[in-house]
Amino acid sequence: MTGTAPPHTGTEGVEGGIGVTALLVAAARAIETHRHDALARDVYAEHFVRAAPASAGWPVRPEQVADGEANPLWGRFARYFGLRTRVLDDFLLRSVRSGDARQVVLLGAGLDARAYRLDWPSGCVVFEMDREGVLAFKHRVLDGVSAAPRAARVPIPVDLRADWAGALTGAGFDPAAPSVWLAEGLLFYLPPATESSLIGTVDRLSTEGSALAFEVKLEPDLLAYRDSPLYTATAEQIGIDLLGLFDREPRPDSTGDLAGRGWSTSVLTPFDFTRRLGRGPLPEPNDALAGNRWVFATRARENRGRPGPGEPVRDRR
Ligand SMILES: C[S@@+](CC[C@H](N)C(=O)[O-])C[C@H]1O[C@@H](n2cnc3c(N)ncnc32)[C@H](O)[C@@H]1O
Repeated sequence: MTGTAPPHTGTEGVEGGIGVTALLVAAARAIETHRHDALARDVYAEHFVRAAPASAGWPVRPEQVADGEANPLWGRFARYFGLRTRVLDDFLLRSVRSGDARQVVLLGAGLDARAYRLDWPSGCVVFEMDREGVLAFKHRVLDGVSAAPRAARVPIPVDLRADWAGALTGAGFDPAAPSVWLAEGLLFYLPPATESSLIGTVDRLSTEGSALAFEVKLEPDLLAYRDSPLYTATAEQIGIDLLGLFDREPRPDSTGDLAGRGWSTSVLTPFDFTRRLGRGPLPEPNDALAGNRWVFATRARENRGRPGPGEPVRDRR
C-alpha cells in the first residue's frame, strides 16, 4: 500500500470512508427506478438508503429533489449511475447468455442487488466481494425485506487490497470454468499497484470464454476538476469528498495490460451509451466525468459471434 491510499480499513461498514459511496450509488439507483424513463430499476436500493443513518435523509425519488434534474448530484450524477447500472446489467446478462460462463464475480459489489434483480440463466453463481461491514449491512437490509436471490449467491467478505484469490476459490469459484467479472466504481479507489495486481488476478483466474468489465478514470490530474459542479454538490449536499477518497496517483494502463495478456478490449465513454440509449449525461464544461471510461474485455476463443459491448440484450427483463 502506498502513502496516498485512502484511509479505509477492512472492517468499515457503509457509515464512513469508501463504504458510504455504496449508499450514494444506491440512492442514485433508487431515484433512477422512479424516473418515468428509467434506464434500470432496483427496488432494493431505497431500502438500503433508508436503513443507514448516514443516508436516511437523502432523496430516493425524483420528486424529492427540490431542483430536480438541475441538481448536479441527484440529477446528472444520479443519472450517470443509472446509465452505468443499465450498461453493466446488459454486459453481465449478455455475457452469461451468449457463452458458457455461469460464474459471475462482482468485485467491490457494495449494495449492488443484481443477484436479486436480474433474470439469470439457470446454474449461475454470483460471488459478491466487498468489505465485511458493507456485506453485513447489505444482508441485514435484504433479510429485512425478505429478498430472494435469483441465482446462487456467495458473499465473500474481503479487503481487495490483500490477496483475495484464495478466498474466492475457497468459496467455490472454479478457475477452470469461464467466468464473468465486474469492477464497477472500484478501481479508482485503489492504489495503482493494487489495481494492477487485481487485474493480474482476474487474468490468472479466467479461462477462455471469460469476460470482464471495469470502470476507470483517465484524467491525468483529477484535481483539475475540483470545482466541477458534480464534486462540489456531492461534498456540499451529502458531505462526501470524492476527490479525497479517490487514489490520485497516476493510474496503470489496465486495458493495455489485458490486451498484452491476450484479451480483446474495447473502451467506451458513458456518453457513447447516452447517445445509444437516448438518455443519460452528455459532456459539459469542467466535467468530472470527462475521463470516465467503461472497458469491456473478453478472453479469446469464443469471441466470434458474440454481441459487441454496446449491443442491447434482448428479452432482458
Ligand atoms: C462506489 S461503491 C460501488 C459499489 C457497487 N459496485 C455499485 O456500483 O453499486 C465502491 C465499493 O467498493 C468497495 N471497496 C472499496 N475498496 C475496497 C477494498 N479495498 N476491498 C473491498 N471492497 C472495497 C466499497 O466498500 C464499496 O462498496
